[in-house]
Amino acid sequence: MDEKDAIIGELFEHDILVSPDVINYIMERGGRKYLPEFIKKYGEFGYIEREDLSVDGKKINDAIKNIHYEEKESDGDIQVTVPKNPGFDWDFKIIMNADANMHASGGTEDFQKLFLDRYEKLHRLLKSRAALRDARSIERLEGGDASAIGMVSDVHRTASGRVVFTLEDPSAQITCMYSGDKVILNDEVIGVKGRYNKSRNTMYVNDIIRPDIAWHNPNRKIKEDISAAIISDTHVGSKTFIEKRWLKFINWLKSGKDGAESIRYLIIAGDLVDGIGVYPHQEEELEILDIFEQYQKLADYLSELPDYIKIITIPGNHDIVRNAEPQPALPREIQEMFTNTVFLSNPAMFSLHGYKFLVYHGASLNNIVELIPGLDYLKTGKMMEYMLKVRHLSPVYGEKVPIVPLPRDYLVIDPAPDVFVTGHVHTFSYNIYKGVHLINASAWQEQTKYQKMMNFNPDPGKVAVINFKKDEVKVWEF
Ligand SMILES: [Fe+2]
Repeated sequence: MDEKDAIIGELFEHDILVSPDVINYIMERGGRKYLPEFIKKYGEFGYIEREDLSVDGKKINDAIKNIHYEEKESDGDIQVTVPKNPGFDWDFKIIMNADANMHASGGTEDFQKLFLDRYEKLHRLLKSRAALRDARSIERLEGGDASAIGMVSDVHRTASGRVVFTLEDPSAQITCMYSGDKVILNDEVIGVKGRYNKSRNTMYVNDIIRPDIAWHNPNRKIKEDISAAIISDTHVGSKTFIEKRWLKFINWLKSGKDGAESIRYLIIAGDLVDGIGVYPHQEEELEILDIFEQYQKLADYLSELPDYIKIITIPGNHDIVRNAEPQPALPREIQEMFTNTVFLSNPAMFSLHGYKFLVYHGASLNNIVELIPGLDYLKTGKMMEYMLKVRHLSPVYGEKVPIVPLPRDYLVIDPAPDVFVTGHVHTFSYNIYKGVHLINASAWQEQTKYQKMMNFNPDPGKVAVINFKKDEVKVWEF
């Protein structure tokens, strides 16, 4: 075993996952000899990327050290107690909330388990399709007309424009040749129909079937006039936080007038605060330099809201939890600063008055925008549609989204939601796909130096309000 392998092994034993360039960083500083110091300094992160090391690691470490998660046995979903409010009967139920205490060592076996879980869940959805009723395990395929279900890898295009990929299930793998116009990405679980040539172990694919969602139940409207306001990326603590516009929004909610009458829920899809040490030299752009003070500031703003508005939050990549997904709910120390607020994992699924909400901060949008031709950050609706088609929130493994290899794949989309919310990219979009409301919620931060450098124009200060009586989304700008 070479030194790098030994270092990886030792890090695994400490439940630490690192990106490959972090291994180089350790090697440069003395390799295994430097390891104890490294673990002491950064070990609390769980997943460590090169960028984490270029900032003031100690500061983050100190903040994280003081956090304790409640230890509790569970099968992965945590239930949260929702305090009763005498003024209003909330109808809030948790469907999926990833447990912070589920850990993985990050070895190959853990990733195999994660991928097997993804395969099995999506296989079940595909197998129920009429078109794939005859699908066989790959090992049992016979020559001629055939169909199979498997996970895609090694996608490439031939000089003649055909797409070639490997399709694998737990029994075996085949090569697939496809000339259609669907974009196929690695790690998707799909069904294929075509002609199978046994001696070449190759399927000439005519049709590709995705797990996709079905058209949605139109009978979900309720009788009462109740709404939920949806926002994201508040980034409190940043110099570019748009406080004036934020206060206008808070005052509108407080007033309970001019369209705010029916709002009983406020959903925030992550990046509640700007955080510290998220990117190099971030401190120059911070108004509040202490992450706990940032959360306290947000808690102070939200404490102004009427007590009939329940707040539901998930974390994002700027929040004080591990970056790798699923991200656990914010730690207890933070939760205790807030009133009337529920803290869930990223992603999370819950229902409000029967409406199923899937809320995901949206790190994988950065991947999808690059992998699918013709997309840009103004087409977030298309990206969300793609996630629903492949029934996965981060369809391609690796790239820019670190994943914790838990035995259960929390990023599989099942069941299908009524409302799908993302944030993260600081634009705003509202679309409908097969009856599902797709909301890429807006931010409360205007253009940062980094965004300016990337020539990116955010679209902050927008609020989507979904009314459950009308089954309608209205967009407000502050
Ligand atoms: Fe953000």
